[in-house]
Amino acid sequence: MAEPPGPTEWGGDGHGVGPWSGPPPDDPRYDPALLRDGDSRNVVDAYRYWTREAIIADIDTRRHPLHVAIENFGNDANIGGVVRTANAFAVDTVHIVGRRRWNRRGAMVTDRYQRLCHHDTTAGLLGFAAEAGLTVVAVDNVPGAVRVEEVSLPRECLLIFGAEGPGITEDAKTGAALAVSIAQFGSTRSINASVAAGIVMHAWIRQHADLSRAW
Ligand SMILES: C[S@@+](CC[C@H](N)C(=O)[O-])C[C@H]1O[C@@H](n2cnc3c(N)ncnc32)[C@H](O)[C@@H]1O
Repeated sequence: MAEPPGPTEWGGDGHGVGPWSGPPPDDPRYDPALLRDGDSRNVVDAYRYWTREAIIADIDTRRHPLHVAIENFGNDANIGGVVRTANAFAVDTVHIVGRRRWNRRGAMVTDRYQRLCHHDTTAGLLGFAAEAGLTVVAVDNVPGAVRVEEVSLPRECLLIFGAEGPGITEDAKTGAALAVSIAQFGSTRSINASVAAGIVMHAWIRQHADLSRAW
């Protein structure tokens, strides 16, 4: 027998849910227009028909003490993917260092629900981390990096990822308490930065998240 849809499946036709059936709920988290017209947004079922503000307020109660930064000194198409994954894992904040402009397409609208913060320089980012009491972990396959598969990641943590091409900056390397790398076995020197970010964020989730709160 076919399994019923799970909590992250977007309704039968893959495009969300139709208008609310029955008397509308008396709860300010619900958006009258969505109740009337249906909700085709890419949100988990628990947030169906909720206003964006109500969703953000709820995620704010679920956020992890994990921050993620990506150095954007080139023209990095990976940032959208990093933001989307960070949203999925209820990361506290995604920090973008360097260029303010980035291609939002890969974020698939998740940037509307994710705290984002810009820093002109890596030094500025490191200053923020010190003030916030976050342990900085540089992520790159550089000499001295320890295997993320074998290391305990700090709970109050800022992960820094580098740009495609140059990788993490000298400032990120020297400012971090430790550097971690993802074990590779093939011919390529490195993997896509957004994929790397997903792997390391998930390593943190495996070590620190309360899975009873996952959808
Ligand atoms: C394409 S890599 C660039 C640099 C890389 N150091 C090199 O030797 O070519 C871009 C970013 O992806 C992440 N990354 C890619 N592969 C990684 C790996 N095996 N371990 C850790 N981070 C990785 C890092 O954050 C890195 O700065």
